[in-house]
Amino acid sequence: MIQKINALLAEVAQAKAKNAEEVEQFRLKFLGKKGAMNDLFEAFKSVPGPEKKDVGQALNQLKVAAAAKLEEFQQALEETANDQVAYDPFLPPAPYPIGSLHPITIIKNQITDIFERMGFNISEGPEVVDDFHNFEALNFAADHPARDMQDTFFVQTNPDILLRTHTSSVQVKVMREGNLPIRTISPGRVYRNEAISARSHCFFHQIEGLYIDEKASFADLKQTLFKFVQEFFGEGVKIRFRPSFFPFTEPSAEMDIYWGLETEVDHRITKGTGWLEILGCGMVDPQVLENCGIDSKQYCGFAFGLGIERIAMLKYQIGDLRMFSENDLRFLKQFVGETA
Ligand code: PHE
Repeated sequence: MIQKINALLAEVAQAKAKNAEEVEQFRLKFLGKKGAMNDLFEAFKSVPGPEKKDVGQALNQLKVAAAAKLEEFQQALEETANDQVAYDPFLPPAPYPIGSLHPITIIKNQITDIFERMGFNISEGPEVVDDFHNFEALNFAADHPARDMQDTFFVQTNPDILLRTHTSSVQVKVMREGNLPIRTISPGRVYRNEAISARSHCFFHQIEGLYIDEKASFADLKQTLFKFVQEFFGEGVKIRFRPSFFPFTEPSAEMDIYWGLETEVDHRITKGTGWLEILGCGMVDPQVLENCGIDSKQYCGFAFGLGIERIAMLKYQIGDLRMFSENDLRFLKQFVGETA
């Protein structure tokens, strides 16, 4: 019996299979119900006791070898199948998933586009800035309580370096460069040390505008912003200004647009008033101009700043700020085809 097993072993070792049919023949011959293995196990029952150990071992060896060979054949078959798919020049190409712009990018582009048409250029600056650009130059003295309005991330080893809390830091940079007059908007990411929730996040995006010239009035500020919201929200939009406070503007205001009170959501987001705050603004404080090396007797100007997320949430009816940074494809795919 050992001889028979060895002969089969040799046969397994030399076996070849070119296609699925031959692989199946191999399987049936050795491992099938009526195959050689089964016959041998049957015969094994009548092997005399003393020989059982050797014959059993040989039998096992044959079984393992046949199973390994079968697997090798099957793998080879699969590989050729894959190769055929990869190289088939007649297959239609797989659909190519089309990406989309992020909703923050879409809104940012739409807003910057409107201001560019009004003659503003775009300026950018670093997200890591020194205290001077983010606070000091903008009239936030070291112990000024207004610093608490913007919980700040400081660099641990150097409290003079921080993550900008607003893009006004870019405006300081532009003013110090001194190319007057200035009409610029600064879009960018800003950071504040706030708990993450549906309504606030530790980072978000702003667009701030700055206009400096020999003559500029609050009426110019109002008209510029009115023109912007008319372009963005439609001709019929209503606005109002409320007095406010920012250390770097005087007087300061917040601008609301009339959102309406039609649905329950309208009531919730406007806190029952129908009005929605969309930006902060004001006439640049002469001291800020001086801090940035501009003669405040000759020049004056206005500034404004708005949050992009807020506008995007309004426009697309998004209820949770966190959606913007979670990269959930189900969310992002909804903006395929939206252009800026
Ligand atoms: N920098 C202010 C903020 O982040 C917004 C602002 C900009 C207000 C310009 C007035 C003028 O809250």
